[in-house]
Amino acid sequence: MSNPRPKRPNDWDVEQYEGRHAYVWNFGASLIEILAPQPAERILDLGCGPGQLTAQIAESGAIAIGLDKSPAMIAQARINYPKLQFRLADGASFRVDEPVDAVFSNAALHWMKQPELVATCVWRALKPGGRFVAEFGGQGNVRAIVEAISAASGETESQWYFPSIGEYATLLERVGFAVTNAVLFDRPTPLAGEDGLQDWIKMFADPLLALKPVEERPEVIQRVEETVRPKLFRDGVWYADYKRLRIIAHREP
Ligand code: BEZ
Repeated sequence: MSNPRPKRPNDWDVEQYEGRHAYVWNFGASLIEILAPQPAERILDLGCGPGQLTAQIAESGAIAIGLDKSPAMIAQARINYPKLQFRLADGASFRVDEPVDAVFSNAALHWMKQPELVATCVWRALKPGGRFVAEFGGQGNVRAIVEAISAASGETESQWYFPSIGEYATLLERVGFAVTNAVLFDRPTPLAGEDGLQDWIKMFADPLLALKPVEERPEVIQRVEETVRPKLFRDGVWYADYKRLRIIAHREP
């Protein structure tokens, strides 16, 4: 019997990520409309992944800088968009050389489990009055999937940060932001193909399976599928039960 893998996030499988999870940045496009980047603004894309949204921000004429903790993601972003700037850095400890007009973040903050440190870094990176426009998993995100995996695997410790509006807005205010808009909304997210849920679990929820030996994991995933099928499988398509927290805040001038 092989040992369970250690419970730590591995670096990303970027090929799988780009190939089967394009919805991550496709949904992020509407957040760029809210960001409304202007020519010559300096904008940091925090948790930029392989860079698709950084590139969309740059199309406006803004100077976009992508930042990610994953070496594999940053390497791919540099291949995808060689003319743009990408930096390898941790969201909980980064610093910028020159303050920016805005920090943007899509589908990344829920991976950063030291949110107060992250918010402090964002605040420090911004010019006074600068804006923070972010969307990520909020309270109750992927609840049905996580509960089913926990029941099947025995692992109950969450690897994500999914705060409520009250919790996150309070944290931002404590750090020195004025929160001007916050909304928590359901966004059922279609997953590609018949194996969509399996692919999602393998890509994102691996640590929740860590207590199980590798050879038992396919059976665990199958049990998860059976549990959530009535709720999350409709007309031949799997939907992840995403709940997004979208937030706009400004660094106090
Ligand atoms: C999300 O975008 O909400 C998400 C993605 C992967 C794992 C957990 C949450």
